[in-house]
Parts: sequence; structure tokens; C-alpha cells
Amino acid sequence: MKVALLPGDGIGQEVTAQALKVLRALNEPLDFEQAAIGEAGLQLCGDAVPPATLDLARRADAVLLGATGVPADEHRPLSEGAGSAVLRLRTHLKLYANFRPIRLFPELLGASTLKPEIVEGVDLVILRELNGDIYFGEPRGVEVSPSGERTGFNTMRYSEPEIERIGRAAFETARKRRRRVCSVDKANVLETMALWREVMTRIGREYPDVELTHLYVDVAAMALMRNPKQFDVMVSGNMFGDILSDAAAMLAGGIGMLPSASLGDGTKGLYEPVHGAAPDIAGRNIANPIASILSAAMMLRLSFDRPKSAARIERAVQHVLRAGLRTADIMESGKRQVGTEEMGDAIAAGIAADPHRDI
Ligand code: IPM
Ligand code: MG
Repeated sequence: MKVALLPGDGIGQEVTAQALKVLRALNEPLDFEQAAIGEAGLQLCGDAVPPATLDLARRADAVLLGATGVPADEHRPLSEGAGSAVLRLRTHLKLYANFRPIRLFPELLGASTLKPEIVEGVDLVILRELNGDIYFGEPRGVEVSPSGERTGFNTMRYSEPEIERIGRAAFETARKRRRRVCSVDKANVLETMALWREVMTRIGREYPDVELTHLYVDVAAMALMRNPKQFDVMVSGNMFGDILSDAAAMLAGGIGMLPSASLGDGTKGLYEPVHGAAPDIAGRNIANPIASILSAAMMLRLSFDRPKSAARIERAVQHVLRAGLRTADIMESGKRQVGTEEMGDAIAAGIAADPHRDI
């Protein structure tokens, strides 16, 4: 059970330290090896993903990542900045299926900006394709006309096999849940997305026990806010999934609560909070570590087949929320505001005290 620990930039450092603390409290035989990514990689060897980091990520059974990206990236080519590291890691490891579960702890009902009756009981998964789409499609760039006018261009691209494999991942996931898949596209405007819908429909016939619906992405964004409880598994391309998952974070009390898992064809996974490096709040012990801690729970469940340990982490998080502890991003009146470290300590202590640990 070898874990590559890649804290990365900004609050990635702080939240990953808490996830590590919580994992250590479990006494699982995990072997951690840390490496540089993002700005630390650039400082070390001029590469945001140093060869040694890539090698470790390949050797490890799972990767626990913080976040990458620094303000200085603004002045660097897109493909060379610290922030590009996470994109490179996802494609290098061929982790194409990104699971972003959106679940609201009942203790956080008041932390959502949406009405309690809308968000109470929300339990859906956004399954985002992670290796294709306009993120990676060629050609891309900025061209200059003879008169000096610049034009930026990117290409939305999906091959049929790419759509098939994320489609199968969606239906397989739905089979373990409430057997409903909603595929999100923009088939009314984009050829790539018309192909997406056609392939999803064909794959859906292999899963007659799973209900398949389709929504255009604009309608899906509205439906997520209007009636999120209708959704079980929502599958989309890379770009739409990126946008929809940040919007959906508000259903769960905020982006500080959202974990993610990226998987390929095997059990190797990359686990990271949905949020970024947040340089504006880095180093101040105020970031919410729960997204990272819940990502560690997903790692135990999906890469290491340790569902009981994963559940222990999730129970400890709930226990601490029930006790009234809150980081600034989910703070409400009457609760006790704590820092990143204190939240991590409390959750780790909750694991040690878990009365169900032998079940
Ligand atoms: C995410 C992030 C990344 C993405 C950025 C930081 C490159 O927004 O994981 O959602 O766009 O995939
Ligand atoms: Mg995003």
C-alpha cells in the first residue's frame, strides 16, 4: 500500500498534512513517500513534474495530491507553470475517470447558500472525463495575422473510444448506486457533443437496468440548483465537469468539502481535493482540510479496498462537525471556528476514539 504524497503549492501543503495525520491515526500499513510537484518541482529542477516525481507516481499504488498553481504562473507559458502539473499527472497516469461525490453532511445544512429543503439529502456523483476535451485537443495556441491581430484557439475533441470508456464507468458506477445516469452535453451546438450523446445512448443499451437521461449543460447547471436530488450519476466531458463540480460544491456547503478520485483501468488512483492551491489564504492556517481528508477516505476505499477504514474517516469528520467545529469557509453563528491544524487534530482524535472501530 504505497502512497505517493505530493502536497504541492499553497494550501495543498497544509491540507495534505492533515490528511496524512488522519491516515496515520488509522494504523493501516501505508507506506508514504513524498515528492516535489508544482513550484517545488520548478525550483528543484525546472520542471513542475520532476522525473523522480513521475517515477514515484508510477510506482505507487495511489497518489495523494494537494494542489498545484502559484501566482507567478501568470507570467509563464500555460504548459510550463506550476499549475499545469496536476493536468500532466492526470494524463501521464491515464486516469480518465474523475469522481466528484457531492454529499451534504446534515450538520452543514445551514452552510449551503441554497435553501435547506433543496439540499437536504443531496447525494450525487459528478463523473468528469479527465484526459480529453478542449483541455488537451490539438490544434491549440494563439496565431498572429499579417496585420498583427492575435487569435486564440482551442479544440474540443473526443474520440469514440474515449466516450465509450467514460460512459461504461458511469453506468458501472450507477449500478452500485441508484441506477440513474444523466449525461451532460451540448449536442444542440457542437459536433463533438452530438457524437458524445450518440455514443452514450449506444452504451446505455448495454445497461438496460440503468436509466439514462440527457441534458444540455446549460440546463444541467440550472437543474443542479433547482432540484439536485433528482441526480444520481452525472457524467460529462472534462470542461463541463470542471464547471459543474464547482457549482455543485455549494450543494455540499462549499468547495472546501469536496473530495475527488481519479481512476483509470486499474485500481491505481489519484486523490485530490476539488479546490485549488488558493494562494490568497495559504500559510494562514485557515483552509478547510476536510476535502483532502475525505479524498484520503476515497483512496482507502477505491485503491486499497479498505471500506471500513474509509468509513471511519467519514464518521470522524461527521462527529467533529456535529461537535460544532468549523473552519472559516463553513462557519456559522453558534459554532466554534478552528484552524486547519485544529480541524485535522480533532478528526484524527475522533478516529482514535471511534467506538465502531472493531465492527
Ligand atoms: C480542478 C481544477 C483544475 C482543472 C485546474 C487547477 C487545472 O480546476 O481540478 O477542477 O481545471 O481541472
Ligand atoms: Mg475546477
